[in-house]
Amino acid sequence: MDSNPAKHIKHLSDNFDWEALTGVWLKEPFLLKRSCMGQINPAWLLNVLRSVRTTLGAGKPVRINFYDRDMMCVTGWTQSKRLCTGVERLLPSDNHSLQLYFERLRSVPRFERFGISLGNLQINFEFWSFTRQFLRLLYMNLPLPGRYVYTSTFIGNYEHTPAGAHQDPFLHGLMFMVEGKRTMRFWKPHVGERLFGTGNTVRNYVAGLGDSFTFELEAGDVLYIPPYHWHVGENTEDPSVAINIDFQIPVSSTWEGELLLKLLDGEASKIGARFLPPLRESPFGVPVDPSEWILDPPPATLIETAQKVANAITSRDFELSVHEGWVQMQSALGLKAACQPRSGTTITYDTVVKGDPDFPVLLLVAGDQMLIGCNGKVFRRDAREFWRKLVKLINSGNPCSVRELAGKLECGEPAKEALLLMQALWEHRGVEVIKTSAKPH
Ligand SMILES: [Fe+2]
Repeated sequence: MDSNPAKHIKHLSDNFDWEALTGVWLKEPFLLKRSCMGQINPAWLLNVLRSVRTTLGAGKPVRINFYDRDMMCVTGWTQSKRLCTGVERLLPSDNHSLQLYFERLRSVPRFERFGISLGNLQINFEFWSFTRQFLRLLYMNLPLPGRYVYTSTFIGNYEHTPAGAHQDPFLHGLMFMVEGKRTMRFWKPHVGERLFGTGNTVRNYVAGLGDSFTFELEAGDVLYIPPYHWHVGENTEDPSVAINIDFQIPVSSTWEGELLLKLLDGEASKIGARFLPPLRESPFGVPVDPSEWILDPPPATLIETAQKVANAITSRDFELSVHEGWVQMQSALGLKAACQPRSGTTITYDTVVKGDPDFPVLLLVAGDQMLIGCNGKVFRRDAREFWRKLVKLINSGNPCSVRELAGKLECGEPAKEALLLMQALWEHRGVEVIKTSAKPH
């Protein structure tokens, strides 16, 4: 199979029943049969798992969950978020195939049945390329679905989703079935609440089976999972592979509100632990009487942050960061994390580069600054007409040498700046290199 995701996207667009999907969006689960046949190459996933193995082997953390036959998590993270060693040896080390990897893993009795969940697949180039092509199609057919986009994978032959039946608050998404078969079991939100209470997860859901409805997924199918619907994935003994593209539902009703929340998220996460709800039980299991719960004054960090946010709202820096956040979000199509930057090519004046009109480099004028963005990365430059023309030329999609790009516009000094920007844009996948040196005229 061709490993270039872009080549297949036309086929994906034709096979997708966009009208049906628009009709159920945010409302009901919906199965699009055989809508992504052959669109996702299982080999991409093998590459991702191999690079996770390498990363863990080098002592660097990766958020991966690995489950054994009893659905016990042998994850690389502990509760205190320290890295455990030894998980890497469970991941593939060679290039053979996912099936061969599954066979080897399952020869160990503890992993006869297993489960792997892993997020941020778009860090990998092939998945990033597929995801952004798909998002572009989706956004052409549906209103912008949310403030963040997440990608993840569920792999294995675990009996059911390790967490059990659950609802993902504030998330909805599409599950792309890549290999094998899986049953997805659903309960409507009010039915789930009646059966399972007001929590988000219930491990034993047997009592609710009679009120559930199911979809049988096989390779090539795409399932839409709306927010608040309770669901669980069930497998046979044959391992299955699915990729999820999830959207966080908007919290604010406007883009401006969403953006403000995004900016405040950064501040809030620094003091996130302070917002934990009061304990219902003491650490030793003795119930705490709420009437005895007397709160300490807010910690100094909370006061400081509140002050910082209040001051920032009127400052120029804050205004710039609002603009920057906007460019960042738009240029990454809302993907929570962007594809990893690349290296290895030095752009010279003779290098011929080319932009992609379908995924243009974005430019926004913010006061005396110009913000130039691609793939979630934003570069600030002094506001000059030079940059506007340069970005326009890149986005025309016509191959052009860096010398021409810079020289056609202005002579002398800006050329060096153009070279530096072009290097940065290439590293963050805003332009492609067509030739490393231009033909002599
Ligand atoms: Fe879920």
